[in-house]
Amino acid sequence: MMDSDRYDHITGAGYTDEDEDIEVSLRPKRLQDYIGQSTVKKNLGVYIEAAKQRGEPLDHVLFYGPPGLGKTTLAGIIANEMGVDLRITSGPAIGRAGDLAAILTNLGENDVLFIDEIHRLNRSVEEVLYSAMEDYAIDIVIGKGPSARSLRLDIPKFTLIGATTRVGSLSAPLRDRFGVICKFELYNTKDLSTIISRSSGILGVDADEDAVREMAMRSRGTPRVANRLLKRVRDFSQVEGSGRIDTAIAERTFEALGVDKLGLEGGDRDILKLIIERFHGGPVGIDTIAAAVGEERVTIEDVYEPYLIQLGLLNRTPKGRTVTDLTYKHLGLAPDED
Ligand code: ADE
Repeated sequence: MMDSDRYDHITGAGYTDEDEDIEVSLRPKRLQDYIGQSTVKKNLGVYIEAAKQRGEPLDHVLFYGPPGLGKTTLAGIIANEMGVDLRITSGPAIGRAGDLAAILTNLGENDVLFIDEIHRLNRSVEEVLYSAMEDYAIDIVIGKGPSARSLRLDIPKFTLIGATTRVGSLSAPLRDRFGVICKFELYNTKDLSTIISRSSGILGVDADEDAVREMAMRSRGTPRVANRLLKRVRDFSQVEGSGRIDTAIAERTFEALGVDKLGLEGGDRDILKLIIERFHGGPVGIDTIAAAVGEERVTIEDVYEPYLIQLGLLNRTPKGRTVTDLTYKHLGLAPDED
């Protein structure tokens, strides 16, 4: 059984209060400073320029992909490049249709509204969003019973940027109302190194090139994890080292955090070991894994699996999850003989 509290969740891509502080200070403001996601970046650059030339809001944009890859950051850049204000909220935070109506009627002309976890909007709120996106108008019901009347209210033209980790969970009518749909990919080591170098510059800490690379390789393809690791390595270098980040202090930090060479932490290893030790390497169903390790299914699917799959340590098959030869090798376990 995996005990979530046992781990210092450095590599989990979930969002914490500390990330809020880190990310706000480290977030690039201009498109040219945004690293990676080159296709998304190139295309959006064109759409932003075109919309600006026409004096219109940018078309509605949907971002999807694993957490921590810079979706909110890019939404901020879009607003900045368009020269408009950004309003940030999330699916679970908008409980009722009236909450959304209040947000929409308070937007300025051409503003950007960012809704994180947009797949978690409830039905009645989603329905208000349809007409808002399509006609820049919302229908408000006044009164109750037979005398109730519907009133159409114009709202400012705006751009909705929706973000989700699971595009499959979005209803078709909502998905169809986005003119631009962008898939976010995990970052390569080179791009993560650039992000870490940039962040260490902003934090005012010197870091050796090799140490930066070591951190990048352990960041699970995720800038949020990279920035979090950097902050922890900085702590160790300050207290136990020279204040400068070198490979020795980086290694010392990884060891303290239980982060291995590939960036896996205890939770990842528990999932892989479970499949090997209890299910002979799989296939085993995702719900069984979730129950056994005590995590929610969606957390395993959205946070743990994308990176394990990219590394070739885990496969999703129609019959369930399986590990690979590489998994045995990485964990130093002998392959099952039967
Ligand atoms: N911080 C988070 N994502 C980033 C990115 N893609 N480029 C630069 N800094 C970032």
